[in-house]
Amino acid sequence: MRVGIEALGVAVPPTCVAMEDLARARGVEPSKYLDGIGTWRMSVAQDDEDTVTLAAQAGHMALTSAGVPANDIGLLVVGTETAVDHSKPVASYVQSLLGVGRRCRVFETKHACYGGTAALQMALDWIRSGSAAGKKALVICSDIARYGLKTAGEPTQGAGAVALLVSDDPKILSLEPDRTGICSTDVHDFWRPLYSKDAFVDGPYSVQCYLDALTGAYEHFQERNPGVTTDSFAAIAYHVPYGKMARKAHRQLRAMEGDLTPDASFEALVGSSLTLPAQVGNIYTGSLYLALASTLATSPLSLDGKRIGLFSYGSGSCAEFFAGTVTPGAQDRVKKLGLQSLLDHRRVLSIEEYEAIMRERDGLDTRPAAPAPADTFRYLGVDAHRRTYLAPNS
Ligand code: HMG
Repeated sequence: MRVGIEALGVAVPPTCVAMEDLARARGVEPSKYLDGIGTWRMSVAQDDEDTVTLAAQAGHMALTSAGVPANDIGLLVVGTETAVDHSKPVASYVQSLLGVGRRCRVFETKHACYGGTAALQMALDWIRSGSAAGKKALVICSDIARYGLKTAGEPTQGAGAVALLVSDDPKILSLEPDRTGICSTDVHDFWRPLYSKDAFVDGPYSVQCYLDALTGAYEHFQERNPGVTTDSFAAIAYHVPYGKMARKAHRQLRAMEGDLTPDASFEALVGSSLTLPAQVGNIYTGSLYLALASTLATSPLSLDGKRIGLFSYGSGSCAEFFAGTVTPGAQDRVKKLGLQSLLDHRRVLSIEEYEAIMRERDGLDTRPAAPAPADTFRYLGVDAHRRTYLAPNS
């Protein structure tokens, strides 16, 4: 049975920061953020957006682009590490915003940036086992990445969501859930205690943990896929907390294979995966899948029928290396989503505006509900401790 991704949807806030502006404001050489980190623009969420609205927007794009009614969904999972409630899952809000019916399993998954991949693998097994009984799964990865103003992590923030419609009709990518490579370890590289809105991170250690986990997951993948090397893939998408990390990851795998000039293959195998992430920043759970969308939307090559590699990393940590085959026509389907145009239409904030938004974010969880124009999904505020939202045209 073929299983995999039938359709994709992406949501980003309508505003962003230009990294050269942020660098100047922080007294840093712009080339450090642009080349050293590898990010040109960083998405910043507005005060009427949150993990729920971004998830709903991405889910709506996936369903409408596939022409699939919300009632065909029998499993709705949101992977996130920036949830809006300790108990009520983001997925429940999304269920009502998208009009998904009651005969559906609805919940949230968490393991840092790996949370979306956990949900995807579970959805693939749900379909393969027959439990889906003809229904499809909607897996949405949604996050607002925040380290705080003037921290080392600041240039690696971002906001956005990627939705994956998962089914036995994978018009985008057939996946191989029985041949993935896994590596998990209890490490304290990146975490966010319940009392904090901002993540804490041991930056250099987190880079090392990512690379260690990549090594472990790739070794396991190779054991389960004898003879496969990175040259077996037409493209590779790595988890992208920032572009330079994908370069370090690729160097690591090539070095494991004895390649003395690992950068030589980088542009051909990985370059296209960074075009969109470099304009969005880290979106945690969605970062790998934005890299996948970027590969399909911007690769100059035809990837029809070609195998591509994917690497998911979540701090803490859990990592998975897996592979899939691109369905003929998938690149056209993803290009039709107009993702570059979505990014081009964002407004670039001044650094003063960005800092004001960052400072106000904490208060948004308790602000009173207020009506807002609804051309997209909107967060209205809190009414009797309940978050309220508006769907377009409701
Ligand atoms: P930093 O200390 O600001 O930067 O931290 P740096 O001094 O390490 O410099 C960064 C790069 O810029 C270096 O390149 C410099 O050489 C270069 P590298 O040596 O790494 O190749 N550089 C320049 N390049 C050009 N022109 C210049 C210039 N100056 C310096 N003028 C760090 C950087 C990423 C550590 C920090 O931003 C951070 O802590 N970020 C958050 C943590 C993170 O993203 N970790 C990634 C791995 S963990 C992960 O991916 C999981 C995560 O997504 C969370 C989850 O799972 O939920 C984060």
